[in-house]
Amino acid sequence: MDKLIVHGGATLRGSINISGSKNASLPILAGAILTGEDCIIRRVPDVSDTNYMIQILSALGADVERSSGTVRITCAEISDEAPYELVRRMRASICVMGPLLARKGRAVVSLPGGCVIGDRPVDLHLRGLEALGAKVEFEGGNIILTAKDGLKGAEIDLRGTHGPTVLGTDNVMMAATLAEGITVIESAAAEPEVLDLANFLNAMGAKITGAGTRRIVIEGVKELKGVEHTVIPDRIEAGTFMAAAALAGEEVKLRRVCREHMKAITAAIEQSGHRVEFNEAGDVCTIHRGDNLKGVDLVTAPYPGYPTDMQAQMTALLATTPGISVIKDTIFPQRFMHCAELKRMGADIKVDNGTAIVRGVEKLSAAPVMASDLRASAALVLAALTATGSTQISRLYHIDRGYEHIDEKLLMLGANVERVKER
Ligand code: EPU
Repeated sequence: MDKLIVHGGATLRGSINISGSKNASLPILAGAILTGEDCIIRRVPDVSDTNYMIQILSALGADVERSSGTVRITCAEISDEAPYELVRRMRASICVMGPLLARKGRAVVSLPGGCVIGDRPVDLHLRGLEALGAKVEFEGGNIILTAKDGLKGAEIDLRGTHGPTVLGTDNVMMAATLAEGITVIESAAAEPEVLDLANFLNAMGAKITGAGTRRIVIEGVKELKGVEHTVIPDRIEAGTFMAAAALAGEEVKLRRVCREHMKAITAAIEQSGHRVEFNEAGDVCTIHRGDNLKGVDLVTAPYPGYPTDMQAQMTALLATTPGISVIKDTIFPQRFMHCAELKRMGADIKVDNGTAIVRGVEKLSAAPVMASDLRASAALVLAALTATGSTQISRLYHIDRGYEHIDEKLLMLGANVERVKER
């Protein structure tokens, strides 16, 4: 197990490239199950979550090759049972369910276990697949879906108590591509990652319209073909480095970003007093640390609202921003594990009922802290960049799930970080 030691106080300067999106790559890799032909997917970030997905595809019988961000997948012959040992490691494995069901008429996937960021049910995924004609059964911790006579298009409302579901929309959309007739998904997730998946599927021959909005219409087709696709930039990685630059930077430049996807994050960084400048094409941005900083009120919401996946990192930025900030997570109200660790570094944060009230302090100080989930770990790294002393962040494997070479990127920007083996 690795840990990261961050020696606080270095000024970040220079430029880095943002990687391809983890959360777009995962369902796109699973989408390759829908065809027996070759799919070539570019800019897949080299993080452990994409590795898990590739291992699951290989275990299902896919032929997979990976080199420098490009993954070639051929699912000529595949099995319909995803192995528990691999599935249990990553909640996003659930998105093999829709494509397996559509391709094989049967899918066996283990029920995802508990998750540190909150209760993460799959009822909406199942409601959608059931509406398409699948029979749902549970046995030995597995979900068994069968559709002996194939799937049939249907009108489905995927709204849950916390809003739309991203992977649920992905699962139903993928299954519906090969269903007979027309499927309409109401209250669909409109995240850019859903749109990227739809673009990938359409290039394979699917007939999907409305992706990126709350209403997606899918006209089923008989079969899909092989395709080449390039994954969109990771807006959460970009947001995390934006926050790092705002905390500890001097004109940090991020390349390969997408301005359109970054609006809510950019607005939050700017509200706290920093300046973000994009080039005309909107694919490079420069972050200028501000002089007149102030607290902000943030409420996470489905896209185009402020993303829950950037809640922890913004909390870290606001921990040393003068004034009071109020941060409410409506999507995962229990996602505040980072706050206890930030408090150990001297932050003044009260968490109550899905809301963090942050009173900005002048400085944080180093402490041994523990990463609890992917974004919480990123928040600790950010906090450590300006803290006095050397912060040790253990359980780095959480951050390696979703940030490609984060230590190398920070080193390139001039941060003083070391990855060491935990004894
Ligand atoms: N929900 C239900 N029933 C369901 C599915 C979801 O009630 O069947 C609830 C969830 O409990 C939550 C809300 O609906 O309160 C939204 O969850 P969603 O299904 O959208 O989450 P997800 O699709 O499992 C993806 C991302 C997460 C991100 C969420 C929300 C991937 C691989 N994961 O998860 O990313 O937080 O959407 O935007 O795309 C991360 O990258 O750190 C991460 C956790």
